[in-house]
Amino acid sequence: MEEHTKKILFLVELVAKLEKLRAEGKVIVQSHGVFDLIHPGIIKHINLAKSQGDILVVTVIKDRDVRRGPGRPVFSEHQRAENVASLQLVDYVCIVEDETPFQCVKRIKPDVFARGQSYKERDQKIHQRIFDEEKSLYFGKSRIYETEGFSFSSSQIVNNSLNIYPDETKAFLEKLSRKYNFNFIVDKINSLNKLRVLIIGDGIIDEYHYCSPMGKATKSHLVVNKYITHEIFNGGTFAVANHVAGLCDSVTMVTLLGRDDSKEDFIMNNLKPNIKAKFYYRDGAPTIVKKRYINEYLNQKLFEIDYMVDDYINQECEAAIIEFLQKELPQYDLVLVADFGHGLITKKMIKIIERLSRVLAVNTQRNAANEGYNLINKYRAPHFFCLDEPEARLATRDKFSDIEVVIKTLSKMLESQYFIITLGKSGSIGYNASREIVRTPVFSSKVIDTVGAGDAFYSFTAPCFSQGMPLDLVSFIGNVVGAIAVQIVGNKRSVERHEMLEFINTLLK
Ligand SMILES: Nc1ncnc2c1ncn2[C@@H]1O[C@H](COP(=O)(O)OP(=O)(O)OP(=O)(O)O)[C@@H](O)[C@H]1O
Ligand SMILES: [Mg+2]
Repeated sequence: MEEHTKKILFLVELVAKLEKLRAEGKVIVQSHGVFDLIHPGIIKHINLAKSQGDILVVTVIKDRDVRRGPGRPVFSEHQRAENVASLQLVDYVCIVEDETPFQCVKRIKPDVFARGQSYKERDQKIHQRIFDEEKSLYFGKSRIYETEGFSFSSSQIVNNSLNIYPDETKAFLEKLSRKYNFNFIVDKINSLNKLRVLIIGDGIIDEYHYCSPMGKATKSHLVVNKYITHEIFNGGTFAVANHVAGLCDSVTMVTLLGRDDSKEDFIMNNLKPNIKAKFYYRDGAPTIVKKRYINEYLNQKLFEIDYMVDDYINQECEAAIIEFLQKELPQYDLVLVADFGHGLITKKMIKIIERLSRVLAVNTQRNAANEGYNLINKYRAPHFFCLDEPEARLATRDKFSDIEVVIKTLSKMLESQYFIITLGKSGSIGYNASREIVRTPVFSSKVIDTVGAGDAFYSFTAPCFSQGMPLDLVSFIGNVVGAIAVQIVGNKRSVERHEMLEFINTLLK
């Protein structure tokens, strides 16, 4: 074992060791971060941190939890830990989880927490809640010491020296960063928390069953697979509500479950606590489940079976929902419709929603069950809508024209003045009241699963729109969210506000 690697400990080992050192009267200093590139700013920070105590502990964020955007981290957690451990002044190194930022500080309880200068402002902006309300919870008695010396950051070096994006995307980002600075964007995003949002749409549970092929069945023409494992997530409107609830403090969700196998406990356990759920039930049917079988090795979907009844809900159920909507709708700043076309949202309901919503945003999702039937022109003049390209083409019955022609047809057909069409790997194209057409590229560097990316895009852009943000900024935010969402399997978890801000911070450097 090389000498420096002995400094790298597991968290339990480290905590035990520090307990002993503390008993001997040693002052413990902690520095925490990604440490992707060791540059003069980092060296200066390490020197200053060490000067504040006897023992310097550096916690290095696990690859999985690095949320610095595309291409990051450049080096693996083990390489990064070894780099830091090679510095003479560093006494111990530990690779830590950071899913909730700074959670390791609670375990390590340093006397001094050393923070680099360039992170001071960023942390306060991005992790404001931790630094204000929960500071004592995370940092207990630790003193926070701000080191000087981070005159430039790894992100700047990575952005400018490594070719992560094509030239057009770099030029786009340069132009955007001249127009909007990071703090302006953070303030805008933070202002969304006071929006009162009502979400209405079909409830869907997503199941992923992973398997591996064994061989051909003896008496039929099929490959038999062996079950490996499965995962179950809140999908559809539940996923949309979880995305929005990370941005806005007050979210009400109106949705439909099946009376027979409602899965209500599972759904509630996987909704964010600030979502108020108003469930209605379809008699004689289960809550909709979409079950996919996936070849685990190739990560390829083999087969899907949906458990659903998807005709329109009966009149009794419709009347109950309409009564609720008539009372509630006018109280919300934004009504967000997630119409998956599975029978919850009736024509009568649409009329009420259009009449009583102060600001109405709509997505009509195309899927196997509703192909061609669930079109945006069921709605009249929504204030904002978001579709993908096939959904836009189906609605205008225009398969081949340039997308800009489709956009103009849509704006006339719906009398809508602000909308965005997502274009998968080509980003998005948007249209506003000034008849501007705004194209935005993708910022994704790796794609794991694109399912749910459009829902995440819509969930973030609708609140941004309703706060009056300009189309270019809203489209930029949407594609940042899209880039994060394509790295998440289906709707396994929602895109979080702080990771989106980390990503934006990196892009604008
Ligand atoms: N293959 C991809 N490569 C890079 N980015 C992608 C890709 N697919 C999607 N994105 C990002 O996600 C955003 C939304 O994706 P997309 O247009 O596929 O939505 P969608 O078809 O509505 O998805 P879904 O309905 O499954 O949620 C895009 O604007 C883009 O930023
Ligand atoms: Mg979609």
